[in-house]
Amino acid sequence: MKVHHIGYIVDNMENSIKEFEGLGFKILQKNQYDEIRDINICFIENGGIIIELVQPKTKESVIYKMAGKYKNMPYHICYETDDMDRDIERLKQRGYMVIQKPERAPAINNSKVVFLMHLDMGIIELLEKNKGVYV
Ligand code: NI
Repeated sequence: MKVHHIGYIVDNMENSIKEFEGLGFKILQKNQYDEIRDINICFIENGGIIIELVQPKTKESVIYKMAGKYKNMPYHICYETDDMDRDIERLKQRGYMVIQKPERAPAINNSKVVFLMHLDMGIIELLEKNKGVYV
């Protein structure tokens, strides 16, 4: 499966963007608020590698606890899929569990995403590339 981006928790979005820019990253898409997950998201890129900076907005955020524990770190890899239902079933057979049901992602042009977890992998995300709307 083709990697779309790496999700990276940040404690302070503005400060982290500055640090990534200092290492050669450029902003691909400015900070956007995802009201479904209560997070701020900014996409940055360096040499074809796309990183999604994710900052929980309030305690209601799905990643608030994880962010409090780890501050700044990568926490998921997102893969593209052209058939989300098929790939979810395939991954379930490999021991993955759905931890966030398929739902639209406002920061990725409302494309559908799902989050899964595997004990030997951690968290992965699938992004439905149905309309080629992003990147
Ligand atoms: Ni992501």
